[in-house]
Amino acid sequence: MQFDDSPETYMRILLAMTLALAACSTQEEMPAVEPPTGVEVFTQPLDDGNAFSCNTCHALEEPAEDGMRRVGHALGDAAHRPSWKDGRLDSFRGAVNSCVTEWMRGEAWSAEDPRWLVLNEYLAAQSDPPAAAVDIQIVRPPGDLTGGDADAGRALFNTSCGLCHGNNAEGSALAPGLLGLSLPPDYIAGRVRFSGATDSPVYDGLTGGAMPFWGGDRLSDAELIDLVAFITEAEPDPDGNNGDLPNDATIPDCPSTHALVGTTMPLTTRFHRVEGIVTVVNDCAVRIDSFGFDGQGIDVRIYGGADLDFADGFNMSADLKNFPTGYDGDTVIGVLPDGKTLDDLGAISIWCVPVGVSFGDAVLGQ
Ligand code: HEC
Ligand code: HEC
Repeated sequence: MQFDDSPETYMRILLAMTLALAACSTQEEMPAVEPPTGVEVFTQPLDDGNAFSCNTCHALEEPAEDGMRRVGHALGDAAHRPSWKDGRLDSFRGAVNSCVTEWMRGEAWSAEDPRWLVLNEYLAAQSDPPAAAVDIQIVRPPGDLTGGDADAGRALFNTSCGLCHGNNAEGSALAPGLLGLSLPPDYIAGRVRFSGATDSPVYDGLTGGAMPFWGGDRLSDAELIDLVAFITEAEPDPDGNNGDLPNDATIPDCPSTHALVGTTMPLTTRFHRVEGIVTVVNDCAVRIDSFGFDGQGIDVRIYGGADLDFADGFNMSADLKNFPTGYDGDTVIGVLPDGKTLDDLGAISIWCVPVGVSFGDAVLGQ
């Protein structure tokens, strides 16, 4: 087309632009429905099941990235094993379907189910064949459950059972709180060793419940006795606080002279559902209100920086990691370290220190 400035040419250009714009906005309004990826199937609950994901009960490898011990064996080499569920099953899909139906309360997946296809591909890619079968031991708890160490039991609980029952057994969306219920020791031990469907085709001797059993190879009798001591002896926290969390940090006494004091900015959400409103409360501290965060990560801090490049930033809090309880509408406080002033604080991040990733951030003073 030759360009001239006749009205027809303008009309044609205008029409082409309008069509292009229309095409763009239609695309934006109706995004194609993406099939799930393998990692999504592994880490998210089923649409037709309960609140558990594969990752609630299985890590890819051990120790797991998030430091939590899972009830089931790690699955990084599971696709290459010769048999599953103590030799009861010789098909990997059959073994996965046993968990999908018995533990996740979903419908079994057909060989063509897109969730099965992507998950199988994802798990098979985690390691090279061959792999050995694993031993699954359903064992009777010891007759004598006394003499456990409640402090050791609390620490163990938080890294093993806490994934479902919440930190310090306070309860979470996945499982109830366990303290202050006067649960008898042999009942607790029985629930740990034998929970699961009584009519399971692959596990013998289970006595009911939605909780998965802990095999003898996944949790020792000595550990079970420490857990019993913790659950029977510990008092529930009356405030529902999950122990020594940075939510408990208070705002330090400090003058309010700097121009930034009073500034309020929302956090931009990047990862792990981080959200909140940052307020500079005085010359030494910021407060994040309506704070949301799923609590996952390795070592997650409130970080300050001159700008959004927090690799050069500085720490302002204790570790915020608090999985699986997380944060929902909470308040957390960040305090400037010695030697830093509000002049150094151009931006705030919820920063995963070892990985160097911002889960959410805000630029202050703009
Ligand atoms: C609520 C807990 C739970 C969930 C959710 C769960 N599993 Fe399991 N799974 C178990 C338990 C318990 C076992 C048996 C004990 C063990 O593996 O040590 C098991 C065993 C397995 C095995 C057999 C291991 C072997 O070699 O014998 C496979 C494979 C498996 N799970 C895959 C999956 C996959 C894939 C998902 C997600 C679709 C999933 N599981 C979800 C609890 C669970
Ligand atoms: C995958 C999630 C999950 C994990 C991990 C888990 N539980 Fe449970 N647990 C549940 C659920 C869900 C219930 C409630 C439903 C039921 O009774 O099965 C429950 C119930 C219980 C009960 C019975 C509570 C009552 O009031 O009757 C006890 C005791 C218990 N769990 C202890 C533990 C201990 C100890 C651990 C760690 C060794 C643990 N659980 C790990 C999900 C879990």
